[in-house]
This record gives sequence, structure tokens and C-alpha cells, in this order.
Amino acid sequence: MALRLHTVICSTRPGRIGPAVARWFHGAARAHGGFDAHLVDLADFDLPLLDEPEHPRLQNYRNAHTKAWSASVAAADAFVLVTPEYNYSAPPALVNALHYLSREWNYKPAAFVSYGGISGGIRAVQAEKLILTTLKMVPLLEAVTIPWVTQLLDAEKKVFTPNEVIAGSVAPMLEELARWAAALKPLRG
Ligand SMILES: Cc1cc2nc3c(=O)[nH]c(=O)nc-3n(C[C@H](O)[C@H](O)[C@H](O)COP(=O)(O)O)c2cc1C
Repeated sequence: MALRLHTVICSTRPGRIGPAVARWFHGAARAHGGFDAHLVDLADFDLPLLDEPEHPRLQNYRNAHTKAWSASVAAADAFVLVTPEYNYSAPPALVNALHYLSREWNYKPAAFVSYGGISGGIRAVQAEKLILTTLKMVPLLEAVTIPWVTQLLDAEKKVFTPNEVIAGSVAPMLEELARWAAALKPLRG
């Protein structure tokens, strides 16, 4: 059976452009066909700032929002994080969502679709890698990097159209992600 990929929209603010970028990537991932691909919106989980009294590795969750987020992350074999860059770093909604859980992330690979201005979000990716490796994840080198993202959106900021370089970076990233997802599967038990 195909491994399950969650493409996660990592910005949650009103007016965000993350969904436009993520919808495009999710379509490309489905067309690629290497995964059982699903689109996940962090905003749907409405996570408050981490409000669990016990360390997440104990999985003794008190709150319905944590249980729902835990079930989502546990179901995935691999992740693509669709991430903006805020102040040269990771968006707070993603940082919060990462810290909510522990074992659910372990031994899973993650790749990045990052976007922004001149940086294409790569400073956010660097900050996120630090957290991911502590969660025993494998963050990938292969990435989809989108500089000057607003130039590739329609007037309503709902539709993202990639240029040739960006479109060409999808398949190499997904192929590497599939290799790692399969290789790490025995460790996930
Ligand atoms: C708080 C904040 C900080 C930002 N910092 C950066 C930054 O450091 N680098 C960058 O390229 N863009 C930065 N931007 C611009 C974002 O790339 C742009 O607003 C983008 O739409 C954010 O993604 P989102 O709409 O999905 O939230 C920042 C935007 C916000 C709201």
C-alpha cells in the first residue's frame, strides 16, 4: 500500500497565502503518484498555545484538540511542511504544533515547500530543522523553494502558478521523501 503523505499548511493567520501554495503542491503530489497524498490545514485544529500539563512523550493528553492533532500526525508516514518565513524564522503556529506531540513525529521524514521574499523561506526551514531532528525526524535536503511568492499568485491570492524551476523541484523532492519514508518504516514499528 502506498505510504501516506500529509502536506501541512503551516500558517494560520487570516489572509494567509499558505493554502494557495499548498493546494498547488498537493495537486502536484497527487499527479506524481508516489504517495497516498492528503492535504492537512493546521488552522482546522485550532490549537491554542501548548496547554497540555504532561510531557507529550507520555501521550496522556487531556484536550480534544491535542487528541485530534495526535491522530492526524500519527496517521502519516511522511510530511511536506508548506511554510512561510516570519522574521527570518519559523511561523509560531508550526512551532506550537510541533511541540504539542512527540512520539507521533518519530522516525518520519519531512520535506519543505517554503516561500517568502528574496529568501524563499529558507531561514524558516533552517529553524524548523532544529526542532525536527530533536523530534527524531529526518528533514530532507531536497526542497521546493519559492522566492518572491506574491509574483506567482493571482490577484485574489488563491491560485499559485509555479515557474519552471519550482515545478521541476517537486519530483526530486518527492522521490527522496518516498525513499526515506520506506527506509524508516521498520523503525516506526
Ligand atoms: C510576522 C511576519 C513576518 C514576516 N517575516 C518575513 C521574513 O522574515 N522573510 C520573508 O521572506 N517574508 C516575511 N514575511 C512576509 C511573508 O513572506 C508573507 O507575508 C507571506 O504571505 C506569509 O505567509 P502566509 O500568508 O501563509 O502567512 C513576514 C510576514 C509576517 C506576517
